[in-house]
Amino acid sequence: MSQVKLPDLSHYWVPFTANRQFKAMPRLFKAAKGNYYTAMDGRQILDGTAGLWCVPAGHAREEIAIAVGEQLRTLDYAPAFQTSHPLAFEAATRLAEYMPAGLDRIFFTDSGSESADTALKIALAYHRVCGNPLRNKLIGRERGYHGVNFGGVSVGGIAGNRKAFGNALSGVDHIRHPLDIAKNAFTKGVPADGGIALANEFEQRIVTLHDPSTIAALMIEPVQGSAGVLIPPQGYLKRIREICDKHGILLIFDEVITGFGRLGTKWGGDYFDVMPDMLTCAKGLTNGVVPMGAVAVKREIYDAFMENSPTGAIELPHGYTYSAIPIACTAAITTLNIFAQEKLEHRAAGLSAYFEQAAHSLKGLAMVKDIRNIGLVAGIEFESVVGKVGAFAFAVYLKCYELGLHVRYTGDIIAISPPLTIEKHEIDRIFNTLADAIKTVAAQGETGLDANQYLKNEQQWAWHQQVTI
Ligand SMILES: Cc1ncc(COP(=O)(O)O)c(C=O)c1O
Repeated sequence: MSQVKLPDLSHYWVPFTANRQFKAMPRLFKAAKGNYYTAMDGRQILDGTAGLWCVPAGHAREEIAIAVGEQLRTLDYAPAFQTSHPLAFEAATRLAEYMPAGLDRIFFTDSGSESADTALKIALAYHRVCGNPLRNKLIGRERGYHGVNFGGVSVGGIAGNRKAFGNALSGVDHIRHPLDIAKNAFTKGVPADGGIALANEFEQRIVTLHDPSTIAALMIEPVQGSAGVLIPPQGYLKRIREICDKHGILLIFDEVITGFGRLGTKWGGDYFDVMPDMLTCAKGLTNGVVPMGAVAVKREIYDAFMENSPTGAIELPHGYTYSAIPIACTAAITTLNIFAQEKLEHRAAGLSAYFEQAAHSLKGLAMVKDIRNIGLVAGIEFESVVGKVGAFAFAVYLKCYELGLHVRYTGDIIAISPPLTIEKHEIDRIFNTLADAIKTVAAQGETGLDANQYLKNEQQWAWHQQVTI
């Protein structure tokens, strides 16, 4: 076996990663094409997660590479404040056309986190510009993920992402998340019952507690992704929309992962036939290749800023050096062209029944506690080993990597969200590999849960033995 020379691993602080563990067992990709990565040791790894949910059109799309390369040589940068460039307006127009009708004023950011914080700031500033400065509370949802900036972390509801950072924003509360395994385990698609009652709790508990006239906005993901694929029951989002309307609360959908065809529709809101007042996106907007996010707002919201701000004033004192940089705009326009040509949302919708069937084939395997799916997303939740929450899913994740499949784990949940270019035989491979990994880890008992034990076992970690640091 040939040895692979790895770079010096000491300087780079790897995000959202157990660095000591990772550096003892690094997993590095050196190339990607279509639905596959090439690992450092040359193995092909099937991408079961479209990168971090961000590569819907498959890797290394030639048309994006060419467009970005040409753009870098034509106009590399133009100041984002007080000047701009035509591509920024073209990208906004194209994105507005892709948005649900009416959400056609676009603010560009560089990430999903920035989109979340931008949307929250627009909500607060909107009420102020409309003469309601006391509407300044923000509501999110338990287990919601809105990125890592202070607004998103505060409105988000993932305990592990909050506890290290103190109190974050004040004036924030959370509604309940929709997962009810006791009632809905192994539901195929959207759970049938409980949606209206759960949504009504928002009004009965949170809206009443805070006094509706103090609440600026509710921000939620149509389907909660990062916390492990939590799918709202039927009727839930429509009822949430009604409650927001009744009380003048802005509804913000964070569509950073549900956007761009993931559920088989352009947007998650389309799937549930509910339109928000603001929509945040990122990731798939450029097919993952250039950092870019966006907030789409209803025209009335934009108009309120234009009509109510003093003449000559900057209506929204907010923006980023890299808002709508030329290469991001080019990448976004080219990605939207690919979506238009290849109808990737329709492709996802067409594959979703096959994907659902394949995902639910894992039912009955040891440790599998729940399987949830919608569009081209699936979450497989495992029983947690006492005192070792997350260890089983992590071991399955490592085993999948060894077997040539990249999946994502969070707690004791494995999430699958392949590129929308995935083929049926690759869907089979994803779930067959997962089945093998689950069976192997379950059969190994406690030893299987100890990553360090793997490292000591040369045969099991043959791929790892090929690399030297
Ligand atoms: C719903 C949601 N919002 C926001 C984000 C943050 O995006 P980024 O990592 O680009 O800041 C994510 C990332 O996974 C997400 O899933």
